[in-house]
Amino acid sequence: MSGNSKSTEFDFKRMIDQILDAIIILNREKIVYSNRAANKLLSFDENTPLCGLSLGLFIDPSDMPIFRRHLEEICSNKMSTVTFALSIQSSKNNKIPSEITCHPFWDHEQQMVQITIRDISDRKAVEESMRQSEKLSVIGELSAGILHEIRNPLTSIKGFLQLMENSSQVNMDYMRIIMREIVQIEKITNELLYFTKPKREHFTQLDLSEIAQETISLFETQAIKQQTEMKISMNGENHLSFGDRTQLKQVFVNLIKNALEAIPAGGNIVINLWSADQEEHVTISDTGKGIPEQAFQNLGKSFFTTKATGTGLGLMVTYTIIKNHKGKVTVESEENKGTTFHLIFPKAHR
Ligand SMILES: Nc1ncnc2c1ncn2[C@@H]1O[C@H](COP(=O)(O)OP(=O)(O)OP(=O)(O)O)[C@@H](O)[C@H]1O
Ligand SMILES: [Mg+2]
Repeated sequence: MSGNSKSTEFDFKRMIDQILDAIIILNREKIVYSNRAANKLLSFDENTPLCGLSLGLFIDPSDMPIFRRHLEEICSNKMSTVTFALSIQSSKNNKIPSEITCHPFWDHEQQMVQITIRDISDRKAVEESMRQSEKLSVIGELSAGILHEIRNPLTSIKGFLQLMENSSQVNMDYMRIIMREIVQIEKITNELLYFTKPKREHFTQLDLSEIAQETISLFETQAIKQQTEMKISMNGENHLSFGDRTQLKQVFVNLIKNALEAIPAGGNIVINLWSADQEEHVTISDTGKGIPEQAFQNLGKSFFTTKATGTGLGLMVTYTIIKNHKGKVTVESEENKGTTFHLIFPKAHR
């Protein structure tokens, strides 16, 4: 009988060793069992088990807080199974993007956790290449508009330079027009820089209220000049999300700039931040002139502007950044009353 149960155990181990996903059993953070795929992924030799080692040795240090939080969640019975992504430090010292599934169970009154590690580098690579080709297609769509928007000021610059060349004199009025046109080209190229930046975005955990505060400080002088009051109101201490700081700052800059440009003297801008279950909400409200119906349909389309020197790229870039951060945006506006942009981002947990 006991011989039988030994052979069943042996078959069972062999079966688990055949599984391609890395499987580890943890007691607290210590490894008490690892299958062949796990040994291969984390140690140099697939036949050397990892028993006795801490799993923390193989997790990217910046991902340890995420790992510990999920482990705590399932061990305190808040969840029965949890799946999340983090970087595993492989035996070859590479960082491997991985999907981790944790499932708790009891063995002789000891709480254990079964961990499955799945290498998702291929999936990540496909996602990255899709993001790149999406960007390229936006650039393709934009190209016609860019050519048009840049050719106009170039024609005007060339014309005024020719006039000065023919008269062999510098004309200060012409020079001012030339400068204005160059500034317009510069604005367009600056806005479009977003699409040409290096492929990898620098996503980190960040506090949206900090970014909002920093952006407000940037516009303080302009707001005072325009007699506009800007304030932030928020519930809770922080509003954590996950993203590229520079890009998210660009979102706040573009929306606050639009708000300031829409407000007559004496108006105000309020940024509201609040947390919901799995989301962080931000509204940017102004008491400006509002957006008429026909303009509303065109919001976010490239080169749509109602301003003499606007590029009409601000909202297009803003919407693209929000989409890349898995966020959402809605707009409410009433003519002569004001406009509110409502942004929703996925919440990042501590
Ligand atoms: N808060 C707002 N209040 C009123 N109108 C707005 C507001 N935000 C955007 N708009 C309208 O949407 C248009 C497009 O905005 P967008 O930021 O894309 O370009 P722009 O502001 O015109 O140019 P740029 O951003 O280059 O300065 C604006 O011209 C304006 O008509
Ligand atoms: Mg704008």
